[in-house]
Amino acid sequence: MYSIGIEGTAHTVGVGIVDDKCNVLSNVSASYFPKEGIHPRKAVEHHADAIPELIKKALKEAKLSIKDIDVISFSKGPGLQPCLKLTATIARALALKHKKPIVGVNHCLAHVEIGKVKTGAQDPIILYVSGGNTQIIGFTEGRYRVFGETLDIAIGNAIDKFARSCDLGFPGGPVVEKLAKKGKYIELPYRVKGMDFSFAGITTELERRHKKGIKVEDLCYSFQETAFAMLTEAVERAMAHTEKKEVLLTGGVAQNKRLQEMLEIMAKARDAKYFVVPKEYAGDNGAMIAWIGLIAYKKGKAEKHQDTSIIREWRIDAVDF
Ligand code: ATP
Ligand code: FE2
Repeated sequence: MYSIGIEGTAHTVGVGIVDDKCNVLSNVSASYFPKEGIHPRKAVEHHADAIPELIKKALKEAKLSIKDIDVISFSKGPGLQPCLKLTATIARALALKHKKPIVGVNHCLAHVEIGKVKTGAQDPIILYVSGGNTQIIGFTEGRYRVFGETLDIAIGNAIDKFARSCDLGFPGGPVVEKLAKKGKYIELPYRVKGMDFSFAGITTELERRHKKGIKVEDLCYSFQETAFAMLTEAVERAMAHTEKKEVLLTGGVAQNKRLQEMLEIMAKARDAKYFVVPKEYAGDNGAMIAWIGLIAYKKGKAEKHQDTSIIREWRIDAVDF
């Protein structure tokens, strides 16, 4: 059985094909990274241009024809409304034209589940860190629950904002990580409340210090040390609270080596297992959407076309899975 997944919630548009063991037969993408921040209409233009070729390329790499595909999956939310609408329209057109079942997928659930299936984690506390989301998640009593989350902006967004204010380009994560290696510590606001945390204060302080002439390397280093320590502290609390013995790091920011290191050290100290999503599935990608679509389809959850409307704000704890 094969599922094709179309992802397009924000900057990246991707198409992936998986089988029912989550072997990824293809996973191709294109990204729109403007200098001055995302412009939804321009992102849509970029994605609309890219998707037809990506679909062809994904099928070709998988050595399949659209006839071989059992289910069309697409990211239904959360995300930028124009981008979601485009992805949904393309998925519907494909499903109608080729008379295939269709499933709309929750993007956050896809980040979590691709991490689990690709690492073998069974019942982890999940730290989901990306440009739009920062949440501590665990499965209890039949659904995913959010134990902790950012009270303002996501960690990836905070990093990108800071990087942009220092003219480091977009996305900021990889550049900040590199520069941090040459920096030294300065104190920044540290805000954890139970299992929640906040990053807006840090970015404001970083911008203030930058204007004062503090070295960018020191800002990068201190930002990472402070923000990642906050996340690690909150995750540890969630593990203690739930008594779970595994931790899984997933989402675009999961590629950061320093964050990986901090979580791994914490997990070891608690005698817990540490897992991180493989790099190729960390950022937005079509394969993770294909995988959730396939699971849902097998559970008999293919959707009627009139039920495939996008859900712009769709929390993982509102998903029946
Ligand atoms: P979501 O809808 O899940 O929030 P997204 O649109 O933010 O998804 P992702 O690809 O999941 O997309 O995450 C992108 C984020 O990952 C960006 O903010 C980027 O700066 C960050 N990132 C990428 N590489 C690194 C890195 N090495 N260190 C830190 N952050 C990183
Ligand atoms: Fe994402």
